Amino acid sequence: MSILPALLLVGGGRMGSAMLAGWRERGLSQVVVVDPSAEAQKLAGVGVQVVADAAGIPAGFTPEAVILAVKPQMAAAALPAYARFAGQALFISIMAGKTLRTVGQMLGVRAPVVRAMPNTPAAVRQGITVAVAGHQVSPRQKMLADSLLCAIGSTEWVEDEDLLDPVTAISGGGPAYVFLLVELLEREALAQGIPAALARQLARQTVIGSAALLAASDEDASALRLAVTSPGGTTEQALVVLRADGAWPDTFSAAIQAATQRSRELSA
Ligand SMILES: NC(=O)c1ccc[n+]([C@@H]2O[C@H](COP(=O)([O-])OP(=O)(O)OC[C@H]3O[C@@H](n4cnc5c(N)ncnc54)[C@H](OP(=O)(O)O)[C@@H]3O)[C@@H](O)[C@H]2O)c1
Repeated sequence: MSILPALLLVGGGRMGSAMLAGWRERGLSQVVVVDPSAEAQKLAGVGVQVVADAAGIPAGFTPEAVILAVKPQMAAAALPAYARFAGQALFISIMAGKTLRTVGQMLGVRAPVVRAMPNTPAAVRQGITVAVAGHQVSPRQKMLADSLLCAIGSTEWVEDEDLLDPVTAISGGGPAYVFLLVELLEREALAQGIPAALARQLARQTVIGSAALLAASDEDASALRLAVTSPGGTTEQALVVLRADGAWPDTFSAAIQAATQRSRELSA
């Protein structure tokens, strides 16, 4: 497997560092990370240099791709400093809500931009990314974006950019919903008197094991759920509560709609 080309990562926070961790496993040639936080210095290592701002990028550094991983609210202030790479590099924006048009306006209309929505399991190369390519992106650049995104998990390409808003709500934020479930399971285990260490282990391994079972099975999630749910048994009682008056389904629907709406608002 070939190592990745020279990359410029703008923003080495939670998502940027997760992607970098995934790329490290694949094999890096040279990555420059731009991030002003002291925390980001920890990302430095073999093949990875961390600088505080665009002025610190080594002279002559020619990245094949610039990955934009700052908060959407920082885009207008941060992005224009990278417009100088537009003639040579592909831009991959992972900023929630920021459209191809908006990012293009900040970098210059001829900048080739891929908009992508990864998620944090990227850190262990188990991410899922949905991407859309702007008109300026060449077939070769799209292949480069695909190889960078596939280095951190699965990648799906769509033509309709509007889909990125619900994708952000489902898979971009999805790990947070799963981790909340782990937190809630652990909290309730403690509340039922289970010792702390065992409570933590039960909550974590239940989700880890369930995910592994899902990955290993050809069956739908609903079939795997039914396999745990004996008629008149204990799980059925729990599920009756979770679904009473639409408790989980309605709440979940409202949560996804709220996140989708927030993604749309961030485009402004
Ligand atoms: N977290 C996720 O699960 C996830 C999933 C998909 C997409 N995303 C997208 O990824 C982007 C980053 O999110 P995040 O959760 O990783 O945020 P984050 O942890 O706050 O990371 C952003 C990083 O950028 C740094 N930064 C601020 N201004 C900068 C500048 N001008 N130049 C370079 N770096 C700068 C921040 O430093 P300071 O802390 O010092 O400000 C921080 O380290 C967002 O646009 C988000 O929508 C996130």
